[in-house]
Amino acid sequence: MKFFVDTAEVDQIAELNDLGMVDGVTTNPSLIMKSGRDILEVTKEIADMVDGPVSAEVVATDADAMIAEGRKLAKIADNIAVKVPLTWAGLKACNVLTNEGNMVNVTLCFSANQALLAAKAGATFISPFIGRLDDINLDGMELISDIRQIYDNYGYETQILAASIRTVNHAYQSAMIGADVMTAPPKVIKQMAEHVLTDKGLDAFLKDWEKTGQQIL
Ligand code: E4P
Repeated sequence: MKFFVDTAEVDQIAELNDLGMVDGVTTNPSLIMKSGRDILEVTKEIADMVDGPVSAEVVATDADAMIAEGRKLAKIADNIAVKVPLTWAGLKACNVLTNEGNMVNVTLCFSANQALLAAKAGATFISPFIGRLDDINLDGMELISDIRQIYDNYGYETQILAASIRTVNHAYQSAMIGADVMTAPPKVIKQMAEHVLTDKGLDAFLKDWEKTGQQIL
């Protein structure tokens, strides 16, 4: 499973990237706002640091303007994936930008039918938002599972990028279902290393070690 980091905070990406945990990065207008950085500058910095796809999102709402913005974003670096919303205009922009040889991430996907359309429009990635479905008492994981089945039924190559991941359980279930990629905030990726029995076991080992009076170094 590929891990994308869902942030525009360069320091946090760098820390995980140094550990080999980063296969790509996703940003969105809200994350750019939170970073306080200029979109072109920060996206360039991230794209230079990370080998894999770096998603940068358009903000226009009509297809022609999305295409123009997408072309500009794609020029930032070879590893940019242009992110477009799952609207009819976004699907048109996806089709054009994909045919021009760009990676396209279709975002704000909340139904299996939307994901099917994105695959037909040639999307490189489809981003179903798990957490935001859970927020309104729907089942985000069921959506990931449905898209997996539909894509497998017909051999679509669009990669399922499980997004809006808020908990380690979302990450675990996405991996079990077979999402190709997950994008998660750095905090959630770090939490995946945690287990109460690991902490308890380590504590006991260290207490016993102290009793031996030995040192390794
Ligand atoms: C994905 O590409 C989005 O940037 C992100 O996962 C949205 O997550 P949120 O619903 O926690 O804002």
